[in-house]
Amino acid sequence: MRSELMLCACIGIFLILNLNVNNAVIFRFTNVVCESHNKSWVLWQNCRLKAISRSKVILNMNATVVYPANRVKIHLKLYKKANGFKPWLLERNVDACRFMRQQYDPIMKIVYGLFKDFTNVNHTCPYMGSQIVKGFYLRPELLTLPFPTGDYMLAMRWYFGMSASPTADTNVSFSFVEDLLKST
Ligand SMILES: *[C@@H]1O[C@H](CO)[C@@H](O)[C@H](O)[C@H]1NC(C)=O
Ligand SMILES: *[C@@H]1O[C@H](CO)[C@@H](O)[C@H](O)[C@H]1NC(C)=O
Ligand SMILES: *[C@@H]1O[C@H](CO)[C@@H](O)[C@H](O)[C@H]1NC(C)=O
Repeated sequence: MRSELMLCACIGIFLILNLNVNNAVIFRFTNVVCESHNKSWVLWQNCRLKAISRSKVILNMNATVVYPANRVKIHLKLYKKANGFKPWLLERNVDACRFMRQQYDPIMKIVYGLFKDFTNVNHTCPYMGSQIVKGFYLRPELLTLPFPTGDYMLAMRWYFGMSASPTADTNVSFSFVEDLLKST
């Protein structure tokens, strides 16, 4: 009887701690900037954050791709803020058309996993017409990397076709705060 009570108490404490831990993670957008370097190919209709609550900020994007993009390369760079943004552990080139066929890049896989439920860009090349991201918010439970607390910017530079110069940029900033002591 006594040990059963102890067990119940332990499970109770475990559940409470677990809830607090989940509540204490803040993972939300802080800024977004979209640019087109070739306005006869890519036009941004919308690129905006909207605060829904203190912990939930949604990202909406709408880009018009005027000519079919049959070949899309992404140069992805993750910066961490420390007196301005500094390059941090990640930088890579991803072939988007190939990735959408076989998800070969583990980092891109995490990024795509975060937004694939909120976009019509969930197929392989070509891309043409309205490319939409709608109601996208960050879910910490999908981050499978250990992530230190901080402010970050994920800069993605898009190269369409054979062009050696970038076609578009999307720079998304976010903060990740894991505070196990002070639950929000
Ligand atoms: C912009 O894109 C169009 C359509 O693909 C292309 O014909 C043109 O050469 C591009 N311009 C530049 C400066 O890359
Ligand atoms: C995206 O922009 C296009 C062009 O302005 C518009 O026709 C379309 O309705 C927009 N889509 C969304 C989901 O906002
Ligand atoms: C892509 O997204 C659309 C909704 O935007 C959905 O209907 C479709 O099933 C998705 N396709 C895949 C392969 O997930």
